[in-house]
Amino acid sequence: RTPLLLDCDTGIDDAFALTYLACRPEVEIVGIVSTAGNVPTAAVLHNNLVLAGLLGIDAPVARGAQVPLVQELMTAEDTHGPTGLGHAQLPEPTRTADPRTGAQLWVEAARAHPGELVGLVLGPHTNLALALEMEPKLPRLLKRLHVMGGAINHRGNTGATSEWNVAVDPEAAQRVLAAFSTAPTRPVMGGLDTTEAVRFRQPELDAVQALGDHPVVGILADALRFYFEFHQADGFGWSAHVHDPLVAAHAVTGRFLQTTALPVDVELAGTLTRGQTVADPLGRWGREPNVDVATSANAPAFIAHLLETLRQGLHG
Ligand code: BDR
Ligand code: CA
Repeated sequence: RTPLLLDCDTGIDDAFALTYLACRPEVEIVGIVSTAGNVPTAAVLHNNLVLAGLLGIDAPVARGAQVPLVQELMTAEDTHGPTGLGHAQLPEPTRTADPRTGAQLWVEAARAHPGELVGLVLGPHTNLALALEMEPKLPRLLKRLHVMGGAINHRGNTGATSEWNVAVDPEAAQRVLAAFSTAPTRPVMGGLDTTEAVRFRQPELDAVQALGDHPVVGILADALRFYFEFHQADGFGWSAHVHDPLVAAHAVTGRFLQTTALPVDVELAGTLTRGQTVADPLGRWGREPNVDVATSANAPAFIAHLLETLRQGLHG
């Protein structure tokens, strides 16, 4: 099985990704890092502990950093609800937090699985950036890094041009991309260009509600309903962009995303564009490509795969 470290800000779509990964037989989740983002770290940690307990994940669940590297934390309770999981009423967690920091967990997991660990970041990059300070060789210890983040040929969803995970901690995203330019395999960046193609509508909400009587099903359905309400209020109609599990599924199966190798950097200084991920397809910077950017997705196939994986995994 592929050892995988998940770093996330759970978060409604993060919860789908976590559940998806727990249902994949070829994946061994070796750690979960709880990152401040959609909601503060304490709430993310709580959500991850509850979900890990319900899904039977034994791996350590760590509390990540409480604030971004430089700027103040912004959170998105309007998008994900006051607890991060929409309308879901959570039971008390049966798991307790690992005493290690998120950065420590990254470093120890990478050292325990040299050349084999898949790193998956579905929230701001804060903990991974801190881990790189502790262990500069981290990029060479991972098999590959996959991140949900950024927007290349697409508007933003936070600032006019910035995507949430990068906008919450632009310095962290910039340092991660810089450090991984020496990695043996380019990181895969799945941004809004592809993840917004994954749009759940009423039939998918119905399908989630019909997944069965596993306790996680009610949580996912109640969370998703809140996500629909937010998207409707935001002008997208009765639907939701379910970003994170697409990037998780590509990390695990190699399917669903097409990528293009490009030089990419993060704008830190722009007064209108701070947090934008900028690509250089014409080579104006004179830099080698450092990222495999997701440029298109097979959203219908992915949605079918996600629902089928949950159907099987939550019954098996
Ligand atoms: C990203 O931002 C978060 O709100 C989602 O969980 C996803 O990781 C999309 O921009
Ligand atoms: Ca997320």
